[in-house]
Amino acid sequence: MTHKTYSKEEEEYIRSNVGKMTTRDMASHLNRPFLGVERKIERMGLSNNDREWSEKDTIFLREHKDWSIGVLSKKLNRSKDSIAQKKKREGLTDPPTPSLRDAILNILQGVELPILESSLLERIEALLGEKMELTSFRRELRYLIEEGYDIKEVISDFDRYYVLVRHGITRPEAYYRFLVDINTPLIITADWHLGSIGFSELALKEMIKQVEEYKIKDIVVAGDITQGRGVHRVELVDLKTPNIDDQIEDAVRVFNSFPQGTRFHLLLGGHEEKLKGNVRVGFDILRAIALRCPSVSYYGSVAKLRLNKNYSLLMIHGSGGTSYATSYKIEKVWRELVDKPDILVMGHLHQLAVIPKQFNKLLIMAGTLQRENAYLINKGYIPEVGWILLRDYNSETSDFKEVMPRVF
Ligand SMILES: [Fe+2]
Repeated sequence: MTHKTYSKEEEEYIRSNVGKMTTRDMASHLNRPFLGVERKIERMGLSNNDREWSEKDTIFLREHKDWSIGVLSKKLNRSKDSIAQKKKREGLTDPPTPSLRDAILNILQGVELPILESSLLERIEALLGEKMELTSFRRELRYLIEEGYDIKEVISDFDRYYVLVRHGITRPEAYYRFLVDINTPLIITADWHLGSIGFSELALKEMIKQVEEYKIKDIVVAGDITQGRGVHRVELVDLKTPNIDDQIEDAVRVFNSFPQGTRFHLLLGGHEEKLKGNVRVGFDILRAIALRCPSVSYYGSVAKLRLNKNYSLLMIHGSGGTSYATSYKIEKVWRELVDKPDILVMGHLHQLAVIPKQFNKLLIMAGTLQRENAYLINKGYIPEVGWILLRDYNSETSDFKEVMPRVF
């Protein structure tokens, strides 16, 4: 490589353009390598760090002292070092730049409902003053979750939303954050067990009729939407569709058979959880379904939904075997809840009941769409095929109906 000496004209060009244009642009104009021009600028005593600060640049720096050093360095065409030193001299102490993790936590603490991934990313970029790669953002999020922050990913309308579920024990009423807004009239159901022999297509048809009749927009499903795999040793006697991919297809078909505009709010049940742990380890079938159906939102294992703008509906699937009375279980869960919702919904036992409590609060056992299964026959339960139609709810009145279609 030959090193041409710089002509007088070239030196003059550099002198008059340093600080006005980037070194890269000058290098391309002079048709010289970038590094060479940079060294030349240094030799001429015009380097970024030594260059005099003009009045204009100093004022700009004072007015934009909150901008990140990176952005200022680009705007003023000076090294980051030079900016930092000047800020120190001017007494413009840097506001502590929040880290990516601080930014994520800050934003998540401030949002009322789960925030769309792209909006979260935009707000992080605004806060940090720099472009953020989706992969580094997702990695940081994973670290936070591994550390123990209860950040929930909600799949809805083909998109990912995030929420920091538990955000402080000082305000018990805000202990578990809302995940979505729902409104009456709505249907509360659970334990469809799609893919099992006992799943009742006829009961489903009745439900669809009711959705049309009452113009229902929200359906909450408290777990065990699918039969899954790996649940119990004799599960094959219950399985109509043993293949998981076929169960997904089945579920997509069922959700799409409802009238347009119906939204499903899904919770993880024992059958989906067992699948995750036993058959395709880690595979989240409901997440896969939510990613296929825009009408489906999936919230993981516990969900608190905001009903009619003012009330809380907490959904838990439930677990465990027999107790001397099935309603005992939901009462027990109720007693143990620190933050009592207005409505507690549980699935799992395939029983249908509404138990009114003080202050118009309701405990709801959400029924099933499965006629029978080996597990429950073994435990001595008779499944109650049906669901709850909640026509209206407020702090004074609640209008609900236990719907038991006469179909088998
Ligand atoms: Fe179930």
